[in-house]
Amino acid sequence: MGSHSEDNVEKLLQAQTQVFNHIFSFINSMSLKCAIELSIPDIIQNYGEPIPLSQLIAKLPINPSKTGDIYRLMRVLTHSGFFNVTKNDVEVMYELNDASRLLLKDHPYSMTSMLHVILGPIMSKPWCQLSNWYKNEDPSPFHTENNGIALWDFAGHDPKFNHLFNEAMACETRMASSVMMGKFKGVFEGLESLVDVGGGIGTITKVIAKSFPNIACIVFDLPHVVDGLEASENLKYVGGDMFEAIPPTQSILLKGVLHDWNDEECLNILKKCKEAIESKGKEGKVIIIDAVVENEKEDKESFAAQLFYDLEMMVLVNGKERNEKEWSKLFFSAGFSNYKITHGLGFKSLIEVFP
Ligand SMILES: C[S@@+](CC[C@H](N)C(=O)[O-])C[C@H]1O[C@@H](n2cnc3c(N)ncnc32)[C@H](O)[C@@H]1O
Repeated sequence: MGSHSEDNVEKLLQAQTQVFNHIFSFINSMSLKCAIELSIPDIIQNYGEPIPLSQLIAKLPINPSKTGDIYRLMRVLTHSGFFNVTKNDVEVMYELNDASRLLLKDHPYSMTSMLHVILGPIMSKPWCQLSNWYKNEDPSPFHTENNGIALWDFAGHDPKFNHLFNEAMACETRMASSVMMGKFKGVFEGLESLVDVGGGIGTITKVIAKSFPNIACIVFDLPHVVDGLEASENLKYVGGDMFEAIPPTQSILLKGVLHDWNDEECLNILKKCKEAIESKGKEGKVIIIDAVVENEKEDKESFAAQLFYDLEMMVLVNGKERNEKEWSKLFFSAGFSNYKITHGLGFKSLIEVFP
């Protein structure tokens, strides 16, 4: 290294800080995980007013030798936008904000199961195989980490993970369901039948079935997901493989399903959907809820979420997030004639596809 002008030294130091901050990005996730495991959001909520640090510490299930270290954890979390912090004469006080409220255990849209499954060992270990995967022929780093087993088969053989995974999907879907039944309710108006393909434990379809008693609904998923789930008047659970056959229906819902698969697999799924719709002999449609990357409405946060989700899909299931051009190519290749994209589901969109 030669000598540097003052400007260059400043730039170099800034670059080094950037690298450090990027290396340390995992600390954001791990601090959040720790806060949830210690029930910090619930303790703050139950206090009923901004909680002084000393009160928070007194309520935490921690060893007395660690009381001085809670402030350090909270400082990282408040810095990254979780919890609002104020000060009285003596000490700092914390209160929940919109983001930390979603981390309450009993919040209707609680994200805690999602956090546990994404940051738990089964879904985080494959990340250590990413560069190996780029050099081998495995479909995903998950396969590399698990001796060639796909995530869906893994879930089929590990009831604890299966339960946690299905609950994590449901927790994200609860919020989507309420948005759908609000501003997007018209999408389901006039339908007679609907199959929610890869519908998990039926979170959104239960809401649709209740709001539209005239729609005959089926939640179709792998047997280990739907076995034993309780049907209701106009909602049935059917176990099967969407690559084999989908029950005949007027409409199909695919929420968070197509981004789990590569283009060839998506094409096969969409062709099966078309067969299922056409066998009913009525004009039908496929309703997709997934991200449309780089859409005009994107804000910086949504775009970041789409890019992160894209890699998460690549690492876990050999899937991907798609832009409009990629989506339309798939729809037309599968034989559909038209589609309509509606934004407004956070970083995801609603796509209606017509035969
Ligand atoms: C990412 S989850 C989405 C669950 C649900 N649609 C939601 O958004 O909450 C994908 C679902 O596809 C299901 N799945 C995977 N392979 C399948 C197959 N071959 N046939 C039917 N469902 C399948 C999984 O079991 C899982 O429930």
